[in-house]
Amino acid sequence: MEKQALDFTDKTVFVAGGTSGINLGIAEAFALAGSRVAVVSRSQEKVDAAVKTLSGHGAEAIGFSADVRDVDEIKAALAGAHERFGTIDVLVSGAAGNFPAPALGMSPNGFKAVVDIDLLGTFHVLHSAYPHLTRPGASIINISAPQAFVPMELQVHVCAAKAGVDMVTRVLAMEWGPEGIRVNSVVPGPTAGTEGMKRLAPTPELLKAVTDAVPLGRLGTPMDVARMVMFLASPLADYVTGAVIPVDGGSSVGGGSLIGAGVEQPERKIR
Ligand code: NAP
Ligand code: COA
Repeated sequence: MEKQALDFTDKTVFVAGGTSGINLGIAEAFALAGSRVAVVSRSQEKVDAAVKTLSGHGAEAIGFSADVRDVDEIKAALAGAHERFGTIDVLVSGAAGNFPAPALGMSPNGFKAVVDIDLLGTFHVLHSAYPHLTRPGASIINISAPQAFVPMELQVHVCAAKAGVDMVTRVLAMEWGPEGIRVNSVVPGPTAGTEGMKRLAPTPELLKAVTDAVPLGRLGTPMDVARMVMFLASPLADYVTGAVIPVDGGSSVGGGSLIGAGVEQPERKIR
Protein backbone atom coordinates (compact mmCIF):
# COMPACT_ATOMS: atom_id res chain seq x y z
CA MET A 1 0.00 0.00 0.00
CA GLU A 2 1.35 3.47 -0.87
CA LYS A 3 0.89 6.88 0.69
CA GLN A 4 -1.97 8.81 -0.95
CA ALA A 5 -1.81 12.41 -2.06
CA LEU A 6 -4.09 13.82 0.64
CA ASP A 7 -2.51 14.83 3.93
CA PHE A 8 -4.30 13.95 7.15
CA THR A 9 -1.47 14.81 9.53
CA ASP A 10 -2.79 15.51 13.03
CA LYS A 11 -6.26 14.18 12.25
CA THR A 12 -7.96 11.52 14.32
CA VAL A 13 -9.75 8.74 12.46
CA PHE A 14 -11.99 6.10 14.06
CA VAL A 15 -12.92 3.04 12.01
CA ALA A 16 -15.63 0.74 13.36
CA GLY A 17 -15.03 -2.72 11.91
CA GLY A 18 -11.56 -1.57 10.90
CA THR A 19 -9.61 -4.76 11.53
CA SER A 20 -9.93 -6.58 8.20
CA GLY A 21 -10.84 -6.26 4.53
CA ILE A 22 -12.06 -2.97 3.08
CA ASN A 23 -12.27 -1.17 6.42
CA LEU A 24 -8.71 -2.10 7.39
CA GLY A 25 -7.63 -0.82 3.95
CA ILE A 26 -9.33 2.48 4.79
CA ALA A 27 -7.61 2.62 8.19
CA GLU A 28 -4.26 1.88 6.53
CA ALA A 29 -4.74 4.62 3.94
CA PHE A 30 -5.34 7.18 6.70
CA ALA A 31 -2.37 5.83 8.71
CA LEU A 32 -0.15 6.34 5.67
CA ALA A 33 -1.54 9.85 5.25
CA GLY A 34 -0.43 10.83 8.75
CA SER A 35 -3.57 10.29 10.85
CA ARG A 36 -3.91 8.90 14.32
CA VAL A 37 -6.12 5.86 13.87
CA ALA A 38 -8.42 3.96 16.23
CA VAL A 39 -10.03 0.68 15.17
CA VAL A 40 -12.73 -1.45 16.76
CA SER A 41 -14.01 -4.98 16.21
CA ARG A 42 -15.04 -8.02 18.23
CA SER A 43 -11.92 -10.16 17.97
CA GLN A 44 -9.07 -9.02 20.23
CA GLU A 45 -6.68 -10.98 18.01
CA LYS A 46 -7.78 -9.05 14.89
CA VAL A 47 -7.63 -5.76 16.81
CA ASP A 48 -4.05 -6.46 17.92
CA ALA A 49 -2.99 -7.44 14.40
CA ALA A 50 -4.59 -4.32 12.89
CA VAL A 51 -2.91 -2.02 15.43
CA LYS A 52 0.42 -3.65 14.59
CA THR A 53 -0.17 -3.09 10.85
CA LEU A 54 -1.20 0.55 11.37
CA SER A 55 1.75 1.25 13.67
CA GLY A 56 3.98 -0.33 11.01
CA HIS A 57 2.80 2.46 8.68
CA GLY A 58 4.16 4.98 11.18
CA ALA A 59 0.78 5.92 12.67
CA GLU A 60 -0.20 6.34 16.28
CA ALA A 61 -2.76 3.56 16.51
CA ILE A 62 -5.07 2.17 19.15
CA GLY A 63 -7.63 -0.63 19.09
CA PHE A 64 -10.58 -1.77 21.14
CA SER A 65 -12.44 -5.03 21.22
CA ALA A 66 -16.13 -4.16 21.06
CA ASP A 67 -19.33 -5.43 19.43
CA VAL A 68 -21.25 -2.70 17.60
CA ARG A 69 -24.45 -4.37 18.81
CA ASP A 70 -23.50 -3.43 22.39
CA VAL A 71 -23.89 0.32 22.75
CA ASP A 72 -21.98 0.43 26.05
CA GLU A 73 -18.95 -1.28 24.51
CA ILE A 74 -19.01 1.14 21.58
CA LYS A 75 -19.42 4.16 23.87
CA ALA A 76 -16.39 3.04 25.88
CA ALA A 77 -14.28 2.59 22.74
CA LEU A 78 -15.18 6.04 21.41
CA ALA A 79 -14.51 7.68 24.77
CA GLY A 80 -11.16 5.84 24.91
CA ALA A 81 -10.19 7.06 21.45
CA HIS A 82 -11.16 10.65 22.34
CA GLU A 83 -9.20 10.53 25.57
CA ARG A 84 -6.07 9.25 23.81
CA PHE A 85 -6.22 11.17 20.51
CA GLY A 86 -8.57 14.14 21.00
CA THR A 87 -11.78 14.75 19.10
CA ILE A 88 -12.63 12.56 16.14
CA ASP A 89 -12.22 14.21 12.75
CA VAL A 90 -13.18 11.23 10.58
CA LEU A 91 -15.59 8.51 11.66
CA VAL A 92 -15.97 5.44 9.44
CA SER A 93 -18.74 2.97 10.29
CA GLY A 94 -18.20 -0.27 8.41
CA ALA A 95 -18.81 -3.24 10.70
CA ALA A 96 -21.05 -5.71 8.91
CA GLY A 97 -22.15 -9.31 8.70
CA ASN A 98 -23.35 -11.33 5.75
CA PHE A 99 -24.21 -14.85 4.67
CA PRO A 100 -26.13 -15.90 1.57
CA ALA A 101 -29.47 -17.52 2.40
CA PRO A 102 -33.01 -17.36 1.06
CA ALA A 103 -35.51 -15.68 3.37
CA LEU A 104 -37.04 -19.04 4.23
CA GLY A 105 -33.57 -20.45 4.90
CA MET A 106 -32.79 -17.96 7.62
CA SER A 107 -34.36 -17.79 11.04
CA PRO A 108 -35.71 -14.50 12.35
CA ASN A 109 -32.58 -14.44 14.49
CA GLY A 110 -30.39 -14.76 11.38
CA PHE A 111 -32.17 -11.73 9.85
CA LYS A 112 -31.86 -9.88 13.16
CA ALA A 113 -28.14 -10.67 13.53
CA VAL A 114 -27.32 -8.84 10.28
CA VAL A 115 -29.72 -5.95 10.87
CA ASP A 116 -28.34 -5.55 14.38
CA ILE A 117 -24.72 -5.43 13.19
CA ASP A 118 -25.16 -3.32 10.05
CA LEU A 119 -28.03 -0.97 10.86
CA LEU A 120 -28.42 -0.82 14.64
CA GLY A 121 -24.61 -1.01 14.90
CA THR A 122 -24.25 2.01 12.61
CA PHE A 123 -26.76 3.93 14.72
CA HIS A 124 -24.86 2.97 17.88
CA VAL A 125 -21.55 4.12 16.38
CA LEU A 126 -22.85 7.49 15.14
CA HIS A 127 -25.01 8.17 18.19
CA SER A 128 -22.16 7.33 20.59
CA ALA A 129 -19.60 9.27 18.55
CA TYR A 130 -21.61 12.51 18.50
CA PRO A 131 -20.16 14.01 21.71
CA HIS A 132 -16.63 13.21 20.55
CA LEU A 133 -16.78 14.67 17.03
CA THR A 134 -14.76 17.70 15.95
CA ARG A 135 -17.26 20.41 15.21
CA PRO A 136 -17.35 22.10 12.87
CA GLY A 137 -15.47 19.87 10.46
CA ALA A 138 -16.10 16.21 11.31
CA SER A 139 -16.77 13.87 8.40
CA ILE A 140 -18.70 10.64 8.89
CA ILE A 141 -18.59 7.93 6.23
CA ASN A 142 -20.89 4.91 6.46
CA ILE A 143 -19.82 1.89 4.44
CA SER A 144 -22.92 0.71 2.62
CA ALA A 145 -23.36 -1.94 -0.09
CA PRO A 146 -25.09 -2.23 -3.49
CA GLN A 147 -27.75 -4.30 -1.69
CA ALA A 148 -29.04 -0.96 -0.34
CA PHE A 149 -30.56 -0.16 -3.73
CA VAL A 150 -30.23 -3.37 -5.80
CA PRO A 151 -32.64 -6.05 -4.59
CA MET A 152 -30.68 -9.33 -4.44
CA GLU A 153 -31.91 -12.83 -3.83
CA LEU A 154 -30.38 -14.52 -0.76
CA GLN A 155 -29.69 -11.07 0.71
CA VAL A 156 -32.97 -9.91 2.25
CA HIS A 157 -31.25 -9.16 5.57
CA VAL A 158 -28.39 -7.16 4.01
CA CYS A 159 -30.71 -5.35 1.56
CA ALA A 160 -32.94 -4.23 4.43
CA ALA A 161 -30.04 -3.32 6.69
CA LYS A 162 -27.95 -1.36 4.19
CA ALA A 163 -30.98 0.51 2.80
CA GLY A 164 -31.48 1.59 6.41
CA VAL A 165 -27.83 2.61 6.72
CA ASP A 166 -28.20 4.96 3.73
CA MET A 167 -31.28 6.52 5.31
CA VAL A 168 -29.33 7.06 8.53
CA THR A 169 -26.75 8.84 6.35
CA ARG A 170 -29.33 11.11 4.77
CA VAL A 171 -31.26 11.97 7.92
CA LEU A 172 -28.19 12.68 10.05
CA ALA A 173 -26.72 14.78 7.23
CA MET A 174 -29.82 16.98 7.68
CA GLU A 175 -29.81 16.96 11.49
CA TRP A 176 -26.07 17.46 12.00
CA GLY A 177 -25.26 19.62 8.96
CA PRO A 178 -25.94 22.88 10.84
CA GLU A 179 -23.15 21.95 13.28
CA GLY A 180 -20.66 21.45 10.46
CA ILE A 181 -20.77 17.64 10.59
CA ARG A 182 -21.02 15.91 7.22
CA VAL A 183 -22.44 12.40 6.77
CA ASN A 184 -22.05 10.37 3.57
CA SER A 185 -22.23 6.72 2.46
CA VAL A 186 -19.67 4.98 0.29
CA VAL A 187 -20.90 1.91 -1.56
CA PRO A 188 -18.12 -0.52 -2.48
CA GLY A 189 -18.79 -2.89 -5.35
CA PRO A 190 -17.46 -6.43 -5.40
CA THR A 191 -14.02 -6.09 -3.82
CA ALA A 192 -11.21 -8.58 -4.37
CA GLY A 193 -9.86 -10.76 -1.59
CA THR A 194 -12.46 -9.79 1.00
CA GLU A 195 -14.58 -11.84 3.38
CA GLY A 196 -17.68 -10.44 1.68
CA MET A 197 -16.61 -11.79 -1.71
CA LYS A 198 -15.61 -15.14 -0.21
CA ARG A 199 -19.13 -15.48 1.13
CA LEU A 200 -21.03 -14.22 -1.94
CA ALA A 201 -18.84 -15.65 -4.72
CA PRO A 202 -17.21 -18.71 -3.16
CA THR A 203 -16.18 -20.49 -6.39
CA PRO A 204 -13.87 -19.37 -9.25
CA GLU A 205 -16.86 -19.58 -11.63
CA LEU A 206 -18.97 -17.23 -9.52
CA LEU A 207 -16.04 -14.87 -9.08
CA LYS A 208 -15.54 -14.75 -12.84
CA ALA A 209 -19.24 -14.09 -13.43
CA VAL A 210 -19.18 -11.25 -10.92
CA THR A 211 -16.00 -9.78 -12.45
CA ASP A 212 -17.40 -10.05 -15.99
CA ALA A 213 -20.40 -7.97 -14.88
CA VAL A 214 -18.20 -4.99 -13.88
CA PRO A 215 -18.11 -2.41 -16.71
CA LEU A 216 -14.53 -1.43 -15.81
CA GLY A 217 -13.56 -5.08 -16.11
CA ARG A 218 -12.01 -5.80 -12.74
CA LEU A 219 -12.94 -6.25 -9.12
CA GLY A 220 -12.36 -3.33 -6.77
CA THR A 221 -9.63 -3.06 -4.15
CA PRO A 222 -9.83 -1.70 -0.61
CA MET A 223 -7.68 1.23 -1.81
CA ASP A 224 -10.28 2.12 -4.48
CA VAL A 225 -12.78 2.53 -1.65
CA ALA A 226 -10.28 4.22 0.67
CA ARG A 227 -9.56 6.94 -1.88
CA MET A 228 -13.25 7.92 -2.00
CA VAL A 229 -13.44 7.88 1.79
CA MET A 230 -10.38 10.15 1.96
CA PHE A 231 -11.89 12.53 -0.58
CA LEU A 232 -15.10 12.73 1.50
CA ALA A 233 -13.04 13.27 4.66
CA SER A 234 -11.01 16.07 3.07
CA PRO A 235 -11.72 19.78 2.57
CA LEU A 236 -12.17 18.97 -1.14
CA ALA A 237 -15.59 17.58 -0.17
CA ASP A 238 -16.63 20.24 2.31
CA TYR A 239 -19.91 20.92 0.47
CA VAL A 240 -20.79 17.22 0.12
CA THR A 241 -23.18 15.69 2.62
CA GLY A 242 -26.04 13.20 2.54
CA ALA A 243 -24.58 11.58 -0.59
CA VAL A 244 -24.54 7.85 -1.32
CA ILE A 245 -21.61 7.22 -3.63
CA PRO A 246 -20.88 3.92 -5.38
CA VAL A 247 -17.22 2.93 -5.91
CA ASP A 248 -17.94 -0.15 -7.95
CA GLY A 249 -16.43 0.10 -11.42
CA GLY A 250 -19.93 0.83 -12.72
CA SER A 251 -21.33 -2.51 -11.63
CA SER A 252 -24.51 -1.01 -10.18
CA VAL A 253 -25.23 1.29 -13.13
CA GLY A 254 -27.30 -1.26 -15.01
CA GLY A 255 -29.07 -2.32 -11.83
CA GLY A 256 -26.56 -5.18 -11.55
CA SER A 257 -26.70 -7.76 -8.83
CA LEU A 258 -23.81 -9.67 -7.27
CA ILE A 259 -25.91 -12.77 -7.02
CA GLY A 260 -28.84 -12.54 -9.43
CA ALA A 261 -28.50 -12.16 -13.21
CA GLY A 262 -27.98 -15.87 -13.83
CA VAL A 263 -25.31 -16.29 -11.20
CA GLU A 264 -26.49 -19.39 -9.37
CA GLN A 265 -25.36 -19.97 -5.81
CA PRO A 266 -24.26 -23.55 -5.16
CA GLU A 267 -26.43 -23.85 -2.07
CA ARG A 268 -30.03 -22.71 -2.14
CA LYS A 269 -31.30 -25.26 0.30
CA ILE A 270 -34.24 -24.27 2.45
CA ARG A 271 -33.67 -25.45 5.99
P1 NAP B 1 -14.77 -8.05 6.73
O1 NAP B 1 -13.31 -8.19 6.43
O2 NAP B 1 -15.46 -9.22 7.36
O3 NAP B 1 -14.97 -6.75 7.63
C1 NAP B 1 -15.95 -6.63 8.60
C2 NAP B 1 -15.32 -5.99 9.81
O4 NAP B 1 -16.34 -5.74 10.77
C3 NAP B 1 -14.27 -6.87 10.50
O5 NAP B 1 -13.27 -6.03 11.03
C4 NAP B 1 -15.05 -7.52 11.64
O6 NAP B 1 -14.15 -7.90 12.69
C5 NAP B 1 -15.99 -6.37 12.01
N1 NAP B 1 -17.23 -6.81 12.63
C6 NAP B 1 -18.13 -7.73 12.20
N2 NAP B 1 -19.14 -7.84 13.05
C7 NAP B 1 -18.89 -6.95 14.06
C8 NAP B 1 -19.58 -6.58 15.23
N3 NAP B 1 -20.73 -7.17 15.59
N4 NAP B 1 -19.04 -5.61 16.03
C9 NAP B 1 -17.85 -5.03 15.70
N5 NAP B 1 -17.17 -5.33 14.58
C10 NAP B 1 -17.69 -6.28 13.79
O7 NAP B 1 -15.63 -7.70 5.44
P2 NAP B 1 -15.45 -6.87 4.07
O8 NAP B 1 -15.92 -7.79 2.99
O9 NAP B 1 -14.15 -6.20 3.95
O10 NAP B 1 -16.61 -5.77 4.25
C11 NAP B 1 -16.35 -4.50 4.84
C12 NAP B 1 -17.50 -3.54 4.60
O11 NAP B 1 -17.67 -3.34 3.19
C13 NAP B 1 -18.85 -4.01 5.12
O12 NAP B 1 -19.57 -2.90 5.61
C14 NAP B 1 -19.52 -4.57 3.88
O13 NAP B 1 -20.92 -4.56 3.98
C15 NAP B 1 -19.01 -3.61 2.82
N6 NAP B 1 -19.03 -4.14 1.45
C16 NAP B 1 -18.19 -5.15 1.11
C17 NAP B 1 -18.16 -5.61 -0.20
C18 NAP B 1 -17.19 -6.68 -0.61
O14 NAP B 1 -17.09 -6.97 -1.82
N7 NAP B 1 -16.44 -7.26 0.30
C19 NAP B 1 -19.04 -5.06 -1.14
C20 NAP B 1 -19.92 -4.05 -0.75
C21 NAP B 1 -19.90 -3.59 0.56
P3 NAP B 1 -14.52 -8.95 13.87
O15 NAP B 1 -14.84 -10.24 13.23
O16 NAP B 1 -13.30 -8.95 14.74
O17 NAP B 1 -15.69 -8.37 14.61
N1 COA C 1 -27.53 -19.43 6.73
C1 COA C 1 -28.62 -19.25 7.49
N2 COA C 1 -28.57 -18.74 8.76
C2 COA C 1 -27.37 -18.44 9.25
C3 COA C 1 -26.18 -18.59 8.52
C4 COA C 1 -26.29 -19.12 7.19
N3 COA C 1 -25.22 -19.31 6.42
N4 COA C 1 -25.14 -18.18 9.28
C5 COA C 1 -25.64 -17.77 10.45
N5 COA C 1 -26.99 -17.93 10.44
C6 COA C 1 -27.91 -17.64 11.53
C7 COA C 1 -27.63 -18.56 12.72
O1 COA C 1 -28.21 -19.85 12.53
C8 COA C 1 -28.28 -17.80 13.86
O2 COA C 1 -29.66 -17.97 13.90
P1 COA C 1 -30.34 -19.02 14.99
O3 COA C 1 -29.90 -18.54 16.34
O4 COA C 1 -31.80 -18.89 14.76
O5 COA C 1 -29.78 -20.37 14.65
C9 COA C 1 -28.05 -16.35 13.46
O6 COA C 1 -27.73 -16.34 12.07
C10 COA C 1 -26.91 -15.69 14.22
O7 COA C 1 -25.78 -16.55 14.07
P2 COA C 1 -24.53 -16.47 15.06
O8 COA C 1 -23.45 -17.34 14.51
O9 COA C 1 -24.98 -16.68 16.48
O10 COA C 1 -24.21 -14.94 14.91
P3 COA C 1 -22.95 -14.12 15.27
O11 COA C 1 -23.46 -12.92 15.90
O12 COA C 1 -21.91 -14.92 15.97
O13 COA C 1 -22.32 -13.78 13.77
C11 COA C 1 -22.83 -13.48 11.45
C12 COA C 1 -22.96 -12.94 12.88
C13 COA C 1 -23.78 -14.66 11.30
C14 COA C 1 -23.23 -12.37 10.50
C15 COA C 1 -21.39 -13.99 11.15
O14 COA C 1 -21.35 -14.52 9.85
C16 COA C 1 -20.33 -12.91 11.30
O15 COA C 1 -19.84 -12.68 12.41
N6 COA C 1 -19.94 -12.21 10.21
C17 COA C 1 -18.92 -11.13 10.23
C18 COA C 1 -18.01 -11.18 9.02
C19 COA C 1 -18.74 -10.99 7.72
O16 COA C 1 -19.88 -11.43 7.55
N7 COA C 1 -18.06 -10.32 6.78
C20 COA C 1 -18.62 -9.97 5.51
C21 COA C 1 -19.10 -8.57 5.55
S1 COA C 1 -19.84 -8.15 4.00
